Amino acid sequence: MSQKPPETPELFEEIAQLRTELDEANYRYYVHDDPTLTDADYDRRLRRLQELESRHPDLIAPDSPTQRVGAAPAEGFPEVKHAVPMLSLDNAFNDEEIMAFVKRVNERLERDSDDLTFCCEPKLDGLAVSLVYENGALVSGATRGDGRTGEGITSNLRTLRSIPLKLRGESIPQLLEVRGEVYISHSGFEALNERARKEGSKVFANPRNAAAGSLRQLDPQVTAQRPLEFCAYQVARIDDYNAPMTHSALMARLREFGFRTNPELDRVQGSAALLTYCQHLGEKRERLDYDIDGAVIKVDELRLQRELGFVARAPRWAIAYKFPAQEQTTWLKAVEFQVGRTGAITPVARLDPVTVAGALVSNATLHNQDEIVRLGAMIGDRVVIRRAGDVIPQVVRVIEDERPEGVLPIEFPRHCPVCGSDVERIDGEAVVRCPAGLFCAAQRKEALKHFASRRALDIDGLGTKIIDQLIEREWVKTPADLFHLKAQALAELPRLAEKSAQNLIDALEKSRHTTLPRFIYALGIREVGEATAGNLARHFGTLEALMQAALADLEAVEDVGPVVAAHVHAFFNEPHNRETVAQLIDAGVRWEEAEVSARPQPLLGQTWVLTGTLESMTRDEGKARLQALGAKVSGSVSKKTAGVVAGPGAGSKLAKAEELNVDVFDEASFLSRLAAWESGASRESGESEQPSNEESA
Ligand code: IVH
Repeated sequence: MSQKPPETPELFEEIAQLRTELDEANYRYYVHDDPTLTDADYDRRLRRLQELESRHPDLIAPDSPTQRVGAAPAEGFPEVKHAVPMLSLDNAFNDEEIMAFVKRVNERLERDSDDLTFCCEPKLDGLAVSLVYENGALVSGATRGDGRTGEGITSNLRTLRSIPLKLRGESIPQLLEVRGEVYISHSGFEALNERARKEGSKVFANPRNAAAGSLRQLDPQVTAQRPLEFCAYQVARIDDYNAPMTHSALMARLREFGFRTNPELDRVQGSAALLTYCQHLGEKRERLDYDIDGAVIKVDELRLQRELGFVARAPRWAIAYKFPAQEQTTWLKAVEFQVGRTGAITPVARLDPVTVAGALVSNATLHNQDEIVRLGAMIGDRVVIRRAGDVIPQVVRVIEDERPEGVLPIEFPRHCPVCGSDVERIDGEAVVRCPAGLFCAAQRKEALKHFASRRALDIDGLGTKIIDQLIEREWVKTPADLFHLKAQALAELPRLAEKSAQNLIDALEKSRHTTLPRFIYALGIREVGEATAGNLARHFGTLEALMQAALADLEAVEDVGPVVAAHVHAFFNEPHNRETVAQLIDAGVRWEEAEVSARPQPLLGQTWVLTGTLESMTRDEGKARLQALGAKVSGSVSKKTAGVVAGPGAGSKLAKAEELNVDVFDEASFLSRLAAWESGASRESGESEQPSNEESA
């Protein structure tokens, strides 16, 4: 074709450069958890490469980053016979069973000291796949199937950016077969379902189902839209004279080739360390951004693995330690409706008590009416309950096959169960509300609890039981009434001795002197949490200015969108809310206008970077805490970076920080700094202000 643009050396170079940058970005992101390009920069480069390749189709290479999404296999998924069978694992459910495994292994290896090295990692709750590379190029990817024969889903697996299309590095084996798990992270899952809800398509029940459904798509275009990730955990075949001698070293080699392995992977020696690993992983489980159902324990030395061999369908050299189940089944005995602070009416399932993950559960939330419809739940049903960490137990599904006779429909009340007002449901909202506000005793109680809570006015000693009594006796109707209580009257309340009545009066007296952000937060305006209250206070400076603000003024506040602005606006335009505010001020509640910040902002104007993993919190929590102190948190280190927090696994950012002489903090020193900043100790001057009564947690 005469029209074809010329292929210049510059063009070859640009294409090669773009491919390298894109591959490198994937590698940094997936293997080192250390993004080098923003999504927008990645997409821009990918589009540029697509454009160049479309003008010069002869330059397209099968391993180009543009070639991830190909055509659907014409005949559906072909059968793939696994050269090495994909086995399963035996399970251990407690420490004794782990110890029994260690004992079996040691006996079989005729070892009498308890010093064997194991390689441990999380058991990911996804789907096993096997990937074959020939001379560094991905040639085949398959599901586990029955362990001997799986389905060839190469085109779908090629769409995963965490699966290298070609291996990195110099010494590439002729043949490599890598196994691992395909899964969807919690954040990916939320985003996927969010999109499905917006588009009106079906939402997935859990990340595992979503991953399974996504891998089974005939059209790789669809798979490419799903947030699937791959994590390698085994080498089935490697043709390399120089192959490592241990499983852990093999995993390190896989990382060099460009595979992600699990950051929690660790080598431990002896059974005590093994049990500790399993316990720590169990504690960390809730903080991980993906589902795991246990730990996989493998004898680290490959020579010993071979010596131990297999029984039936499982290796003798490995075991899966399974965490206690987070789900249990029980009977749904009744449904009650609770009224929250903002009037939201929440259905609560009363259950036949059952132990779930170590705690006795007799109530679970059903969220809202839509959720009851989605579950198709009826009173008397057999239901599956899930409890994860501190999260409120939930009803996850109904076992319809076990539905007994005589079940009853769950009827949502049309009147508030506490005050009898007609309930409302606003179009487009899932929540049914009692509109009575502070006229409803339930909302009054909740509003008072919120008002008195630690991060609001912090009224020490004003607990739930006392609030309930104050409301029931109608001694208190609005928060302002609290400040007119007399010790003598309080002492009449059962269980409130004279001494604590006086203590409560003292606490009320003390709480009168507060800060503007606390006061705004204490009002309990919908969607106004502590951070928003702080932003509003900083922005407007005085309560009067806030109360008079127009909608547009409110939307100009940092992190305040139209919804929050509308709630704030509506709140201050409600006459009885204005009256309550006036009464509170009459009752002596006050703050210094200058004291607009609830929390000290010692890091204002500074930029911080978090890298690697933190033990005691997620990176998101670390980020939120830094931001609460005024800092900006960035993804890359520069000369202007004020500090870098580096946990295990920190890579290039740490190196960059060291190169630029930026302060680096390990987790322990970061935590102690955080605590000091949050409690108001000033960093620059080293002087500490009056200790605040706010906890730094
Ligand atoms: S190793 C010889 N490591 O667990 C078997 N398996 O029962 C080698 N799994 O379906 C498997 N995370 O998909 C291994 N870190 C991990 C794993 C893991 C999840 C799954 C795997 C398989 C099942 C084995």
